[in-house]
Parts: sequence; structure tokens; C-alpha cells
Amino acid sequence: MAAVSDGSGKLPLVVLISGRGSNLQAILDGARDGSLPITIRAVISNRPGVQGLDRARQAAVPALTLDHKVYSTRQDFETALRSTIDELSPALVILAGFMRVLSPEFVMHYAGRMLNIHPSLLPKYRGLHTHERALGGGEREHGASVHFVTPELDSGPVIVQACVPVLPDDDPDSLAARVLEQEHKIYPLAIRWFAEGRIVLREQQVWFDGHLLSEPKRWPGCH
Ligand code: GRF
Repeated sequence: MAAVSDGSGKLPLVVLISGRGSNLQAILDGARDGSLPITIRAVISNRPGVQGLDRARQAAVPALTLDHKVYSTRQDFETALRSTIDELSPALVILAGFMRVLSPEFVMHYAGRMLNIHPSLLPKYRGLHTHERALGGGEREHGASVHFVTPELDSGPVIVQACVPVLPDDDPDSLAARVLEQEHKIYPLAIRWFAEGRIVLREQQVWFDGHLLSEPKRWPGCH
């Protein structure tokens, strides 16, 4: 059963993007083929003209732009973003390559109902350039994490991780492509769990099927 549904049994959500939108595409595909019990109320980009907005339009999902550059302060931008989101009454807000740091006030407004995907095995490599840094760090394994969003950047409780090997001739692009393929699997998976009411954030911890998740779910292949 859905955690909070719109009466159709489908979880209403809003997706925030800044660019390419390949994770968005995986979510749109899941909504279309019925594997994800969700209704995407809108896709919102803080950058105009990005590929993700086209993907939304192609799927007949409202594609909105809120260009952060037209607001004089971060707070003004966030006020506009928050009211745009809240008018859509989503039960879940998905950050899918959304490249603006959000204030603690904004994040706390969506506590327990905002997810992000990050291209590293958190808590390793928070922040940017994760693939370069994993290569520089001599990692043999790398991956991606889906987590609840909390005020500290890339530090919220992790729900699920996918792992990939780092190969001897990898460069950041080849490694990023291998990780991205897994992102497109674990993000829809985590969203489905949330929509089915299987994952809940309680006191800064993830509960899965009524049990405290002591460590993230791991995609097969993690060591
Ligand atoms: C992904 O690598 C995601 O993990 C990170 O930003 C990238 C977005 O890619 N947060 P896309 O826009 O979903 O293609």
C-alpha cells in the first residue's frame, strides 16, 4: 500500500533537476510501464533549456523552470521553489541531479520526504567530482547511494547503494558511465519502496519493513 497516495493508489511526487535528466528518465519509464506506483506532478529545473525538461515534456509531465539566477537571494529562490512544490502537494520530492545546495530550513520542510542520489558509496566522497576522487583514491570499488536529504550536504541516512568495480584502465567518464547504469536501477527501487510504505525516516534513521536499517541495502556485487 502506498505511504501517501493521491486516491489512485499512486504516490504523487515532484522531481527537481538541473540538467541531463537520465535518472529522471528512469523514473519516468517506471511510471509509464507501471513498475513504479507514482504520479509525477511536475519536473522543476533551476536551469532553463536542459535536456531533462524535454524528457518530461515527451512523457507529458509538466516541465517547469525556476531559474535561480533571476532571484536576487538564495532565500527568494527557495521561497519560490517551495511554494511551487507545495502547490503540487507531493508526498515525495526527488532530487535527480539538482545542483543547488538547499538551506537547512528548506530541507527540514521536506524532512522524511525528500530523496537524493549521489554518485559515490557514501559516506565516501561527498560533494563534487566523485569519480575523479575515487580514481585518485585508488578505490577498487565505487558506486552510488540513495539517501534521505538532511541539512548537511550528502550526509543523510542511506537507503540503498549500488557498487561497481573500478577497472585498471578507467577514466572518470568510463567510471561515471558504469555507476550511472546502476543509479538508474537503485533510484527507482528506493522510490518504489517509499511508495509502498516500506521505508520511513524516523529520528534520522531509516526503517525498512518496520525494522531499523543498521546499514544500507546493498545491490548485489558490493563487497
Ligand atoms: C548523477 O550522477 C547523480 O548521481 C548526480 O547527478 C547526476 C545526474 O545525472 N546527483 P542525470 O541528470 O540524472 O543524468
